[in-house]
Amino acid sequence: MKITSAQLRNKWLEFYKSKGHTDIGAVSLIGDGSTGVMFNVAGMQPLMPYLLGRKHPEGTRLCNIQGCVRTVDIESVGDPSHFTFFEMMGNWSLGDYFKKEKTAWTFELLTKHFGLDKDKLCATVFEGNAAVPRDTETAELLIGLGISEKHVYFLPKSDNWWELEGTVGTPCGPDNEWFYPLSDKQNPVFPDDYVEIGNDVYMQYMKTENGYVPLENKNVDTGFGFDRMLLFLNGLSDGYKTDLFLPVINKLEQISGKNYDDGGEATKAMRIIADHTRTAVMLIGDEQGILPSNTGAGYILRRLMRRAIRYCRRLDLGGEAMLGAAEIFIDIYGGAYPLLIERRAYILDEIKKEADKFEATLAQGIKEFEKCVLSLQRKNAFMAQNNPAYVPETVIGGKQAFRLYDTYGFPLELTEELAAEQGLSVDKQGFEAAFEEHREKSRVLAAGQFKGGLESHSEAATNYHTATHLLNAALKIVCSSDVQQKGSNINEERLRFDFNFPRKLTEEEVAEVERLVNEQIKKDVPVVMREMSLEDAKNGGFVGVFDSKYGEKVKTYSIGEFSKEICGGPHAASTGALGTFKITKQENVSAGIKRIKAILK
Ligand code: ALA
Repeated sequence: MKITSAQLRNKWLEFYKSKGHTDIGAVSLIGDGSTGVMFNVAGMQPLMPYLLGRKHPEGTRLCNIQGCVRTVDIESVGDPSHFTFFEMMGNWSLGDYFKKEKTAWTFELLTKHFGLDKDKLCATVFEGNAAVPRDTETAELLIGLGISEKHVYFLPKSDNWWELEGTVGTPCGPDNEWFYPLSDKQNPVFPDDYVEIGNDVYMQYMKTENGYVPLENKNVDTGFGFDRMLLFLNGLSDGYKTDLFLPVINKLEQISGKNYDDGGEATKAMRIIADHTRTAVMLIGDEQGILPSNTGAGYILRRLMRRAIRYCRRLDLGGEAMLGAAEIFIDIYGGAYPLLIERRAYILDEIKKEADKFEATLAQGIKEFEKCVLSLQRKNAFMAQNNPAYVPETVIGGKQAFRLYDTYGFPLELTEELAAEQGLSVDKQGFEAAFEEHREKSRVLAAGQFKGGLESHSEAATNYHTATHLLNAALKIVCSSDVQQKGSNINEERLRFDFNFPRKLTEEEVAEVERLVNEQIKKDVPVVMREMSLEDAKNGGFVGVFDSKYGEKVKTYSIGEFSKEICGGPHAASTGALGTFKITKQENVSAGIKRIKAILK
């Protein structure tokens, strides 16, 4: 490697520090919710309030390398250049320097420190429109620095304008994009032989419902793709050959006995496993500790992991291939993201749990899917026999897709992908309808179930019962998967929960348990009761106090994927009713048994 990932990180940050910037470090991959964008998709996203005018505690010159997740291109992952996780090297001026300094610094970094040839550099700038003038100033500055006039292009808003798509109230502006030829071609032609390596956005407008309003501050927002730059500076064209991926690819080759460079099935499968595992490691190891679930960011994580597991099968590997890959990613990224090292065991454990869960049903689900295809083909063949004008059906029914989801854990997108491989599609609307019908049934079931209970139990006590389940599940995540309920007592004012754990929880652990419980409450997850045999409940992963006596049939309560317990109830119909969960006290009960008291406000 001409330049390693560690050296590139360092170069970017050191360069901007030498220009008076403070390295503010990276924040969580999860957006703060203010824009409606689930993940951070650009380094500027967490800085939005400051670009709009708020004072940043670290000053007016900032830099960092920020992790981002983009899943719009998930179907393209498998080619050499699409990834669901990437890092953006960024730097910002918050009403400080502007075009003169910025053009000069980017030029200096690219030509002096990254060794790019100024005669090959191309740049594009905004050509202007009715609302915002043509950016002749930037063009002149670039030419003044030594970029050939022929290499500076004026382009329209569709090319040289940057904003966070689908949002309003967010900062934006015209940008200056930088391009370089990917190959050693003698006389490269723009744009065909060129790739974009990054951009400087002159962020001095706010996007509103009625157009663009000038901001008080003239800001700069720079973003250069870290992975892309690494690839590029090393003269590579396959993103999986940089030091961020190669050790993982080597490992996959070793355990599968297949050759990454076969250019076919193995290449694609290894890329998908590697990309999705990396994103899974980053999300589970994120400061917000995302776990696979059926909603929000957790659902995206589940989708990625299940897709990766399916591709493990293509290499005749089990989900443990993901574990092998995850371990290596933790080493690769541990330097820049120390939390990954700290949480190593937890991350691996969560990956293993999700893999085990999905693998248990995957083979059966695929068989089920194949049956759907077969019956469709049979029907088509039969109809065509009797009616030459018959147009064959190519859509898998929504109910069938829902069954694959509900019984075999197939995310809809997975079924869609399987269908596409057969030249079929899935009735999405039908899927949504089946989903809704199921949700409604669960609600009715849950509500009916509690009627009896509610007469003898106050609503407060009922809520505390449900909160106890959430607490039990959260303790298993935060403290240890060995945590078990050793006692519980509920009245109308509080819950009390005894469990095995050698020490008191730290303040951070208490906060994390509260956060996890409150997250489930906020999501308003339906509490679903199902009766089943004790055997089925145990196999289905439902936890219970197994030293107490259970009958033949037991009642099980699921709160999404978060909590699954055997219990007599009563419970709230959904978690939204619970309010805010707070731990008020920790006590010692006996050796190895701790007690938590908690309230709902
Ligand atoms: N916000 C700009 C980008 O994402 C820098 O490319």
